[in-house]
Amino acid sequence: MPRLLSLSYAARLVGTSRSKLQKHIQDGVITSFEGKINLTELTQLYPQTITEDTIMLDRVEEIIEQACFKARNHIPMPTDKEGLLIRASALAKELTLAKLELGNYAIFTQKIKSKLNKLSETDNPEIKEILHALNDWIQAELPKTSKSNTLLHQLLTQNKKSRPITTHVQILPSGHECLLEGNITLLEAGLNAGLALNYGCSNGNCGNCKAKLISGQIKKSRPSDYCFSETEKTQNYILMCTTTALTDVIIEADEANKIQDIPLQNIIAKVKKLDSANDTVSILNLKTPRTKRLRFLAGQQVKLSINDALSKVLSIASCPCDDMNIQFHITSQDNNPFSKYILEQLKFGDEVTIEGPQGEFILSDDASNTVILIAMDTGFAPIKSLAEHTMTLAHAENVHIHWLTSEKQEHYMRHQCRAWADAFDSFQYFEAGLQHNLNTDKGKEELNTQLSKIIGAYPNIDSCHIYLAGNKHFIEISKGQFNSLSAPRLMYEQVD
Ligand code: FES
Repeated sequence: MPRLLSLSYAARLVGTSRSKLQKHIQDGVITSFEGKINLTELTQLYPQTITEDTIMLDRVEEIIEQACFKARNHIPMPTDKEGLLIRASALAKELTLAKLELGNYAIFTQKIKSKLNKLSETDNPEIKEILHALNDWIQAELPKTSKSNTLLHQLLTQNKKSRPITTHVQILPSGHECLLEGNITLLEAGLNAGLALNYGCSNGNCGNCKAKLISGQIKKSRPSDYCFSETEKTQNYILMCTTTALTDVIIEADEANKIQDIPLQNIIAKVKKLDSANDTVSILNLKTPRTKRLRFLAGQQVKLSINDALSKVLSIASCPCDDMNIQFHITSQDNNPFSKYILEQLKFGDEVTIEGPQGEFILSDDASNTVILIAMDTGFAPIKSLAEHTMTLAHAENVHIHWLTSEKQEHYMRHQCRAWADAFDSFQYFEAGLQHNLNTDKGKEELNTQLSKIIGAYPNIDSCHIYLAGNKHFIEISKGQFNSLSAPRLMYEQVD
């Protein structure tokens, strides 16, 4: 399988610009496949590239994996012999057809380009201009992939280990899609892909993950105690948490679309890790029991309490696709007794009660707009959750994070943000630090200047989805600047 590289990464690898590579694609010197280019063709054109040294490439793949937070079942377990045979024969058919289709598509595209080039040799300047415009349009449109092409691309370029054991799952009525690797369950496949499927115990007991099998072959992969009614049995109802797919399947299942679809939960989690990110911020990672995971939407908050005595509402900083590992950013500057206890006394294995989720700072379903995420200090926590979820879902065409810090604060996860920007063409990261505290006039003036710069950087800001999170002062000042915009989605989250 040829190794495909994003345009940005290929440009960096051979030390040229993206526009130069785009020109090569336009001139037909190298071909592009869904916006990516083939490493072999690239090295033929730039022979000085050391292809044997793939350390950087592997590092990029690693970053993408980490950034996507495929925390569950990183290396899928192989299915049994019977399952593998069924999948392998179905996939072999599919791959042959897909390759034929792609081959025809590539030949046809090449023919159109040659035809246009030939026709552009005309002496008529108007026709020449139209043909050039048409050619440019084709070049620009080709990399834009449809959802199904993205899935096909994932299927064809996946890690060699898992390729033969992957099936495609389509969920109705939403039409959402995901890939199921190895013998993970339908529920795990959906959650890994960032879908907000309905579920409860994850253990085959509660029946909350009930779904109707419309087509395809499935197999029970775990035992369950749940009893279906006779009607449900005749209607092909299954439990997503105990069932895997042997072939591509279509199922009808409930998904949460709004905050009211997620029940209020009370979960006792344990401290998995508590690291200090810098002098003032610590990263707390809690682990929930396997059978009682936290369902939430990216950007939401929960109430954390310890011994029924200390509590605080905090934004979740992790992605809902990893519902057993929940992250929070705790600052020592809020003088809150709960934060003080966490930073000074909490230790590995201690119990923390999670109650929630709550809050409406969530992503919109509309994926067609640029998403601008603006954080101030630890307002980065809910912004990180939103960013991770947009990446897992491939939710938006462009995701831009702007992280501002106030006096003496640091961008404590800047490496993570830079790694995302390196790994994803659609992701950009910007940071700026204010010299003064937001309580002061100078600090307010600085923040206003930074926000004006952000607004000025987007001529089309009225069509963007904008999310801002930070302390009270930040939200007040931001509202002064952003409320006059007519952006289709403008959300604020106060983080104390
Ligand atoms: S989540 Fe409870 S039975 Fe599947």
